Amino acid sequence: MSDLILRAEKLDRSFGGIHAVAGVDLDIRRGSLHAVIGPNGSGKTTLFNLITGHTRPGAGRVAFDGHDITGMPYHKVARRGLAKSYQITTVFPLLTVFENVRIAAQSAAHSYVFWRPADGIRPVTAHTERVLERIGLAESRGVIAGNLSHGDQRRLDLAIALATSPRLLLLDEPTAGMSPSDTAATVELIHELNRDVTILMTEHKMDVILSVADTITVLHQGVVLFEGGPDEVKSHPKVQEVYLTGTV
Ligand SMILES: Nc1ncnc2c1ncn2[C@@H]1O[C@H](COP(=O)(O)OP(=O)(O)OP(=O)(O)O)[C@@H](O)[C@H]1O
Ligand SMILES: [Mg+2]
Repeated sequence: MSDLILRAEKLDRSFGGIHAVAGVDLDIRRGSLHAVIGPNGSGKTTLFNLITGHTRPGAGRVAFDGHDITGMPYHKVARRGLAKSYQITTVFPLLTVFENVRIAAQSAAHSYVFWRPADGIRPVTAHTERVLERIGLAESRGVIAGNLSHGDQRRLDLAIALATSPRLLLLDEPTAGMSPSDTAATVELIHELNRDVTILMTEHKMDVILSVADTITVLHQGVVLFEGGPDEVKSHPKVQEVYLTGTV
């Protein structure tokens, strides 16, 4: 088995005259907690969408676990074990926390669940319980999702992604809009999840990145500016320049 769980080569995507992602190479090591950082509009979300199949690349290739997934739609990519934590728009706000996670777990389960409900449903329910426990939402299982606090709604996003038992989890700004205490709790959770799941994340809070990531790719205007460990990134003059002045 290769050391790399994901390999993106020369990924490219323009929107009209905007070259959002311009020939990006990205290798993700199995087990790593890899962060993509960069100023607003540097192409982080577009890069993630190219990897997950939410956006078709203009050029380039993506291989997940040795299989070419370039241009494959997300539902197929997800079945192979790659999940993206959505913004709360995909949470069903009128359903309970438990139902939201169960639906995700069931969608990822094999079709036998529908054939043999007596055998199939129970594992899905048990898996749902485990995910809720792990994410710290077990006590909120009966709460209507739309009534959760902002922090808990973001945690529910994570639970929904985790319910599909991914091998690679993509998190796009998982602590966005969170209070300092919710941020700290989420960082701890991400660290914990990384024991079993390879994680690729974006984040604007530098302190969060430097405390969790083992590898950091710095994007600037759709191009990889630098890649290295937290200490190298912190002390890299070009990176400092981009963050301080927005230019290189
Ligand atoms: N669907 C789209 N249509 C047109 N332009 C787009 C589209 N998606 C992204 N862009 C543009 O591509 C560039 C990169 O955007 P992207 O959202 O990938 O950046 P980002 O690094 O995620 O930014 P942020 O830190 O603000 O989330 C921006 O100039 C953006 O305006
Ligand atoms: Mg973004």
